Amino acid sequence: MAPSIVTSPSVSTNDPAAPTYTASNGCPVLNPRASARIGGEYGPLLLQDFHLIDLLAHFDRERVPERVVHAKGAGAYGVFEVTDDISDLTSAKFLASVGKKTKTFTRFSTVGGEKASPDSARDPRGFSTKLYTEDGVCDWVFNNTPVFFLRDPTKFPLFIHTQKRNPQTNLKDADAFWDYLTTNQESIHQVMTLFSDRGTPYGHRFMHGWSGHTFKLVKDDGSFVYCQITMKCDQGIKNFTNDEATKIAGENPDFATEDLFNAIEAGEYPSWTCYLQTMTLEQAKEFRYSVFDLTKVWPKSDFPLRRFGKLTLNKNPENYFAEVEQAAFSPSHLVPGFEASADPVLQSRLFSYNDTHRHRLGVNYLQIPVNRPENVYNPMERDGGMRVDGNYGAVANYQSTFAPLRYSKGVSAAKHEYWASTALEISPEVTDLDYEQPRAMWEVLGRTKGQQENLVYNVVAHASAAKPEIQKRVAEMFGRVDKGLGEQIAQGLAKKARSQ
Ligand code: HEM
Repeated sequence: MAPSIVTSPSVSTNDPAAPTYTASNGCPVLNPRASARIGGEYGPLLLQDFHLIDLLAHFDRERVPERVVHAKGAGAYGVFEVTDDISDLTSAKFLASVGKKTKTFTRFSTVGGEKASPDSARDPRGFSTKLYTEDGVCDWVFNNTPVFFLRDPTKFPLFIHTQKRNPQTNLKDADAFWDYLTTNQESIHQVMTLFSDRGTPYGHRFMHGWSGHTFKLVKDDGSFVYCQITMKCDQGIKNFTNDEATKIAGENPDFATEDLFNAIEAGEYPSWTCYLQTMTLEQAKEFRYSVFDLTKVWPKSDFPLRRFGKLTLNKNPENYFAEVEQAAFSPSHLVPGFEASADPVLQSRLFSYNDTHRHRLGVNYLQIPVNRPENVYNPMERDGGMRVDGNYGAVANYQSTFAPLRYSKGVSAAKHEYWASTALEISPEVTDLDYEQPRAMWEVLGRTKGQQENLVYNVVAHASAAKPEIQKRVAEMFGRVDKGLGEQIAQGLAKKARSQ
């Protein structure tokens, strides 16, 4: 007896308003769920079945390389509004007047894990915002920490390798992790932050953002001040403990992604109040640390926060791949009035991001809608893979007398500041100065019940997986911040070793 056919709900309709399904060349497809075969329904396949071959070939190419760092992320559109007058500091048009609004796109991310890694991992968080200004796209590619692990960019790829997977085992490697950090102790301030509960934020809505680097606010007359940006989360800070973060990683690895999306869908728009700290050249020369040392913060007591704006996220993307995965942020996407400083790590980042975008998304990545500036006109940059607009038609592709262009009258970004002083020099060596701010942070943690204990617990939980001689170095390193802290970590590690 022939098997009876099971009917399932129909996926096609005769409704003339519904779109007609076609192959990718626009040819209507009779039955998209069956491949073309010799002799009807049951025969061997035909290579002439363009619909099938194209579908498979397209599927085979669906992935673009994931970001080499910050691979896991979530994003949303929003608006940046100037709340306070800072026209005494900068001629940047998007900061020109109170009430001025600029459309934005923000992406939050973890750093070390792969694209499918848990949102609650102990890791710094990326906090990148595109500001679509009339003078081009300005990207604030910030983190949720005010400092970073290094002040010499040569170390970046090596450092990242130690936080990722072992080349042989393909496992996370506690030996490499702590071997690097104990031999490059300028990281200590960031390591203290990472191993406090701030290293496991509850979700993207509940953390601050910091520029970390020193930037420059510049006026049309060429005068400038150094600045750092702090974005304070209006929802309040909320962190997981180590054990809560581990639990949620198993139960819902996409917790932060879901939390952000659902909040925006429900109309609970998250926002951040934005503050500046500024420093004149003269102040920079007298500053205790180099202004270009990314491992240091500017004390608020000396350089008070000055409010200037508010970022609100109010719209989810329609399509994750198109808008979030293809978003290409770069610290070199700047606009007149907001410039890079001579910080060597920042200067290296100015190269690295566009380089990786050309690899990840192709040379025309700035034409992808989420990245595209409003008023771009550069007929010198032509052709290249995936050039899908008009490619400037017949317009000259050189600076031509037949079609002269108007040049901006603004201040030239080429006029980089030049000054020489010991304050500018950045120590390649680790010195006592590197433990001062972590020491102050240890004291601040002591003001909230349980925070010092949690830091000790979190370090012990992680470093106990490293070799005994590296564990000893870890305790010694924290001991340079505070003797008692080092002792507590040594005791915790010894106790853990006995229980294993
Ligand atoms: C992402 C390089 C330091 C924040 C990336 C990416 C690279 C990179 C190659 C991937 C970009 C992509 O594929 O789209 C570097 C280098 C650094 C450095 C070479 C130092 C020498 C920093 C610092 C910060 C930072 C100090 C923050 C203050 C970010 C953020 C992203 C990112 C937020 C994610 C951007 C996104 O959401 O797409 N970095 N980075 N990085 N980096 Fe860095």
